[in-house]
Amino acid sequence: MAERKVALITGGAMGQGKAHALKFAQNGFDVVLADMQDPESDAFRATVQEIETTGAKALAIKCDITKDEDMSALFTQAWDTFGRIDVVVANAGVINFGYTWELTDAQVQKVIDVDLIGTWRTDKYAALYMRKQGFGRIINIASTSGMYGTPQLATYCMAKWGVRGLTKTLAQELKGTGIVVNTVCPTKVKTPMCETDSYVQFINDLTGNHYQTWQEMYDSVPFLDVEDISDMVYWLGTSRAAGKFSGRDLGLDLGTLQQ
Ligand SMILES: NC(=O)c1ccc[n+]([C@@H]2O[C@H](COP(=O)([O-])OP(=O)(O)OC[C@H]3O[C@@H](n4cnc5c(N)ncnc54)[C@H](O)[C@@H]3O)[C@@H](O)[C@H]2O)c1
Repeated sequence: MAERKVALITGGAMGQGKAHALKFAQNGFDVVLADMQDPESDAFRATVQEIETTGAKALAIKCDITKDEDMSALFTQAWDTFGRIDVVVANAGVINFGYTWELTDAQVQKVIDVDLIGTWRTDKYAALYMRKQGFGRIINIASTSGMYGTPQLATYCMAKWGVRGLTKTLAQELKGTGIVVNTVCPTKVKTPMCETDSYVQFINDLTGNHYQTWQEMYDSVPFLDVEDISDMVYWLGTSRAAGKFSGRDLGLDLGTLQQ
């Protein structure tokens, strides 16, 4: 029987990361789920249980991508458990809102630490381990806000534009190693990240609408479903064609880049 492949996903407890893990698990991968949430929390346990119903192994690890010791331990444990890491999805991220002139140092630091430096740290360990095995696919999750400016999202835009620079640099550095790295840039996706009052207010400010709840917002504003991103991430992680390019940005933009 062929050895099962392994996908490691940061921010795997819920949202897009959970959907990516399920997609890989449904297609014969074992998965490593790294998240700052406790694996014993209800949400994280439910994710692991759902993955295990596919027959896949799911290794759930509490890990903060802003902490080097956590990331070092995560990759050591993944490697010691499975002996290979075929795909890494650097997915964990956070968002906050504020016009550029209103932002505090703490707000800027937070998003840069998680979304940019945390993604670099994930890529660092992915590259270190994949170089040992001589193959691998790294997929960085940015945003369409990493392809244009968005009012009240300076922290997020700075970080996500930076992720694209990281991807392009790492792709050059990994030339000829059998490892490719690309960025996925989704527009709005239905996940817990968008199911807050502050996110609804951000959309109201952006569009001139007056949605009271995120459910009302979802009914009226075009959003991607998590499976839309998972399909692309899975294709990038597994297809022969996606092994033929590196350093690219793929916009899942619902047409917003045309505007
Ligand atoms: N939802 C959207 O509209 C949207 C659009 C474009 C891009 N994105 C990006 O997609 C990725 C996934 O977002 P989502 O929508 O699933 O968000 P989410 O908030 O629903 O899930 C994010 C997950 O990341 C985890 N996480 C946060 N900080 C972490 C840290 N420091 N260390 C480890 N885990 C951490 C959370 O616990 C959570 O499980 C993020 O990078 C986000 O910026 C989201």
